Amino acid sequence: MYNCIIVGSGIAAMQLANHLNNKSRVLVITKSTRRASNSYRAQGGIAAAIGKEDTPFFHYEDTIKAGCDYHNEQEVRVLVENGPALIEQLKNAGLPFDKDEIGQLALGMEGAHSRKRIVHCGGDATGKHMMEHLIASIRPTIDVIENRFVYELMIHPDSKKCIGIKAKDPDGNNEVYFSDNVVLAVGGIGGLFSYTSNDSSVAGDGVALAYRAGAEITDMEFIQFHPTLLYINGKTAGLVSEAVRGEGARLIDQSGIALMKGKHLLEDLAPRHIVAKEIFHQRATGNDVYLDISTIHQFEEKFPTITALCSVNGISIESGKIPVAPGCHFLMGGIAVNSVGQTSIDGLYAIGETAATGVHGANRLASNSLLEGLYYGKKLAVHLNEQIDMNETGVTSFYPIKTSSLNIPVFPNKEEIQEKMMAYAGIIRTHSELELLKKWLSEYDYPSFMANSFDEWSIDNIQKLFMLQTAKLVVNAALLREESRGAHNRKDFSMENKRWGQLHIVQSKKGIEM
Ligand code: SIN
Repeated sequence: MYNCIIVGSGIAAMQLANHLNNKSRVLVITKSTRRASNSYRAQGGIAAAIGKEDTPFFHYEDTIKAGCDYHNEQEVRVLVENGPALIEQLKNAGLPFDKDEIGQLALGMEGAHSRKRIVHCGGDATGKHMMEHLIASIRPTIDVIENRFVYELMIHPDSKKCIGIKAKDPDGNNEVYFSDNVVLAVGGIGGLFSYTSNDSSVAGDGVALAYRAGAEITDMEFIQFHPTLLYINGKTAGLVSEAVRGEGARLIDQSGIALMKGKHLLEDLAPRHIVAKEIFHQRATGNDVYLDISTIHQFEEKFPTITALCSVNGISIESGKIPVAPGCHFLMGGIAVNSVGQTSIDGLYAIGETAATGVHGANRLASNSLLEGLYYGKKLAVHLNEQIDMNETGVTSFYPIKTSSLNIPVFPNKEEIQEKMMAYAGIIRTHSELELLKKWLSEYDYPSFMANSFDEWSIDNIQKLFMLQTAKLVVNAALLREESRGAHNRKDFSMENKRWGQLHIVQSKKGIEM
């Protein structure tokens, strides 16, 4: 029996683990290794208003503008106000942030920021440094179990409280872990799309687990596509940070024409959804798109991770051009939570990308995600430290493995799901294409799966069902929202609609509410 089970091992998970009471019994359980996460891959950095000319209010304004005024404003306010102190704590704890020539924290620029406010480590290796720091800080009494696929949240039949999790080891053996406090911190849904910046382990598990357990899921239509993933041989091969455009790189086509000129006041540093949409249109008309990096001095020193990524993929930095395409990057919606991460199920919490806190609106501001993980990880720890009763023994009775009466269905392969999502629920959406996708998805959406036990299913089959189920939540919401706002672009409803600005689409087993 644990005081807290944390599912996932990104920044929110590790920040929470590091701030829980030293005596509490904590399990961190993760699908892959503790270093396989989107947080570990993060390049740009962490946004915080620490520059001389900056204030949390400017950071707040930029966040609201980039996200098209669709936020929980109170949450945005506290998030940005806490930024400087969170950076100070990490600096004091020894995280090696990059410094400028006078020894102050070096501040980078990214899209839709009105000021330089991105702190970073190792040039473009912020996530790696940050996560190594947090991983090294984990106290030895915390159990960290890797390579476990969590496939069910256990809900007590009488109290309806979440009391633990079921997981499978790599050989498919089932394990059961009990706790009064289960936290989902498993990241977003990048693995649902064929073009993505996400780690291959990230495929919508948090949303699927919570939905199946009965939790409310919201804002699933808001999925950010990062404008610049390295594009090679018809595939994307990893992120090329927006910080590269912050250093002066420009988006060009094969003739060298600057693509963002005249498209937005901020040109190449316009909000991500605007840049991604422009690149989408260019590519749809047969143009290739590149980042012109020829004006950036000492590129290799400033961006060692991107230089290595290009080199592995046969792109020479000396050529001055990096071929790019947009890909799925970040889920603004997710599991509905309150200000401490409490979901609609007692005992179940969500933090980080899988949670919908309302801080990102309809399109996240660059480098606000690591900040979100730091802030909500710590905030939930403070909350749980007050709740956790060290003497509580809780439920520890073994839940028998159930035998499934259903035949295990034949699902489409993951690539087919990813390609269909990219084509029909990607950067630009229409009613007819979303309907087609919904129809295709519903072929695999037997209601009986909702009640069915996965104890005897293979990891591969459960993963596919989780993907299909999460895809369905995206498609439902994208079909219903008849407007374009932030990252949700409808060709048939191309304008923002004031009425929709107040509405959130909430999905649960009970149905859809607005
Ligand atoms: C980037 O470096 O471009 C990604 C950082 C982020 O998603 O905020």
